[in-house]
Amino acid sequence: MLLNNIKEVREQIKEWKSSGLKIGLVPTMGALHAGHLSLMKKARETCDRVVVSVFVNPIQFGPSEDFDKYPRTLEADTKLCEREGVDIVFAPSADEMYGKGQRLSNDTLTYVCPPFFYVNKLCGKTRTGHFDGVCTVVLKLFNIIQPDFAFFGQKDAQQVVIVRKMVNDLNVPLQIVQCPIVREESGLALSSRNKYLSEEGKKEALVLSRILNNINLCFKKGITDVSALKETAYSFLTEKHDMEYLELVDKNTLEEKQQADADTIVLIACRVEGVRLIDNIYLGE
Ligand code: PAF
Repeated sequence: MLLNNIKEVREQIKEWKSSGLKIGLVPTMGALHAGHLSLMKKARETCDRVVVSVFVNPIQFGPSEDFDKYPRTLEADTKLCEREGVDIVFAPSADEMYGKGQRLSNDTLTYVCPPFFYVNKLCGKTRTGHFDGVCTVVLKLFNIIQPDFAFFGQKDAQQVVIVRKMVNDLNVPLQIVQCPIVREESGLALSSRNKYLSEEGKKEALVLSRILNNINLCFKKGITDVSALKETAYSFLTEKHDMEYLELVDKNTLEEKQQADADTIVLIACRVEGVRLIDNIYLGE
């Protein structure tokens, strides 16, 4: 069932809750791919009813980012959701989510701002305000759907840590479930932004998973010095790769590591053909 209206969703949720049904939410921005489908499958296994939200959230995009050209494929997304047994596809307009005519600025709108320590690094360093926009919309979705479980992909690992922190700090009564990264056979992590890449670009984009796998291999061989592990990336890079960051941090707190250990996650962001791609790996995996 495709719903665009908060009131209608709430009515349906109320009915399910009164029958004691467990509700799972998969928040998305649409352009669904196998990574999203894996979240829906997990939600289906865990919950009695599954809601997928499809909303390209304007307030998590910076002024020079790809909000306007972000792929919007609602018809295909709805069909995929139906095939996965999703009960509600919630696809609101920006007016429905934020109020008609609402100026989307933090002068006029209540924002949820996650702590500086979590956002002044990795993607947050260049995407100023991004995680404020993410947390704001995610908390709104949690308030509208009131799910028992919410499902997020590991590919956006910083996002999951920050959303967990918000849920914990603000006592939001639900459980966050993180699902593993889904990859093409080549190793490329699935992303809605892969649609922007040419065939050649997709090959060049393999540099991200190759760098991560190699660091993991070096770690398994006993190298733990973070500078030494980072150095190993350079032999993979060419002028086709514009690396934004490569960091080794604690998987729960995002604290920078000097020595890698079993609690370390390696995260990378790199532009290929101007497309910003991210990927990560847990060391020892
Ligand atoms: O990961 C995403 O697609 C988005 O950041 C999310 C969680 C749906 C919020 O807009």
